Amino acid sequence: MADTLVPKGLDGVAVDVTAIATTDESGNLLYRGYRAIDLAARKSFEEVAHLVLLGSLPDQKQLADFRAKITGNHSLSNEIIDTMRELKQVNLMDAMRSFASIYPYASKETVPLLLEIASRFPQILSSSARISDGEEPLKPIRGTYSENLYYLLTGTENKQHSRALEKLLILYMEHEFNASTFALRVAASTLTDPVSAIVAALSTLKGPLHGGANSEVLTYLLNFKSEADAIRFAEQKLEKKEKIMGFGHRIYKTKDPRAQFVKGELKKLIGDSIAYHSATAIEEYVWNRKSLPANLDFYAALYLHTIGIKEKYYLPIFACSRVFGWGAHYIEQTANNKIIRPTSVYTGPKGLEVP
Ligand code: ACO
Repeated sequence: MADTLVPKGLDGVAVDVTAIATTDESGNLLYRGYRAIDLAARKSFEEVAHLVLLGSLPDQKQLADFRAKITGNHSLSNEIIDTMRELKQVNLMDAMRSFASIYPYASKETVPLLLEIASRFPQILSSSARISDGEEPLKPIRGTYSENLYYLLTGTENKQHSRALEKLLILYMEHEFNASTFALRVAASTLTDPVSAIVAALSTLKGPLHGGANSEVLTYLLNFKSEADAIRFAEQKLEKKEKIMGFGHRIYKTKDPRAQFVKGELKKLIGDSIAYHSATAIEEYVWNRKSLPANLDFYAALYLHTIGIKEKYYLPIFACSRVFGWGAHYIEQTANNKIIRPTSVYTGPKGLEVP
């Protein structure tokens, strides 16, 4: 009954206008008018982050300046490192949320502060994980955002794998009014500061229906010994009416072009392997049986595993990229603000006498 009174999950409801991202008629995700998969194939992370956050592709000087701001040789303060040591074992998304929140940022203006927050994410992530594992934090290297992130997460430098990571980071960067971005926009609409708004987004991204799907996908994909195993798994899940992580999407009802792009890249990396064939077998089975497309997280899981990144990093990596999309939405929301305060249809009792 309640479901017929309101569109549950705001399904199909436009809540504001945006000039940052959309999907076009053929189902392609656009960032500021450019196809995200074309940007992933041809541009660097920094160029796309500049485009998404500030609205245009940078010229050489703007690029150098932007790159210096989001990479750079920033070390975390001793206080932050000491607090990490006291906490020891910690969930990495909780660590990112907490340390992103208490970090002593130097910037006060919105854009410099957004860049400063984004530039600290890789190190907060890497240092929390390493301290939690009883290892010493690593110092960032001189390199691109992706090279640095790859190094901080694996302890090795690898140009080919860093470029592979970069392509995925670009595809993760922005997706208009997804749940975490909407949470950020609600927070931003109260005119709270960028740090607080980003913490709201991080908290929302953590949920398994949003960002948390990719590590669950890897767990099941790596268990299969054959394509038949994979299909049996999907069959059982659907029979039990359980969700299969990595499938379905509010926007993409036939194909997620980002997932198909990553699938193509994955094929170049691992070709004829059991894992790849199990993945494509499940994709085909779930599509034929339930008309659900594989989403970006489905192929991202195996892709990240293939380039040597541990599963515990998958969700925080998403955040290291999406933070630029969130930043763009913070700017857009506050530039033309009205507090987001919807109404609801009340279905409870009225007029009760207090005993
Ligand atoms: N496995 C099995 N069935 C599914 C799945 C799935 N992964 N996703 C949707 N369905 C089914 C639903 O049960 C529902 O079936 P019904 O009509 O028989 O009741 C139907 O498909 C419609 O699904 P909804 O949940 O209404 O779709 P919605 O748009 O609300 O949710 C979502 C989208 C949350 C992504 C959903 O598909 C899901 O939970 N997927 C699994 C989690 C996941 O992979 N998340 C990553 C999203 S991509 C990203 O964040 C980068």
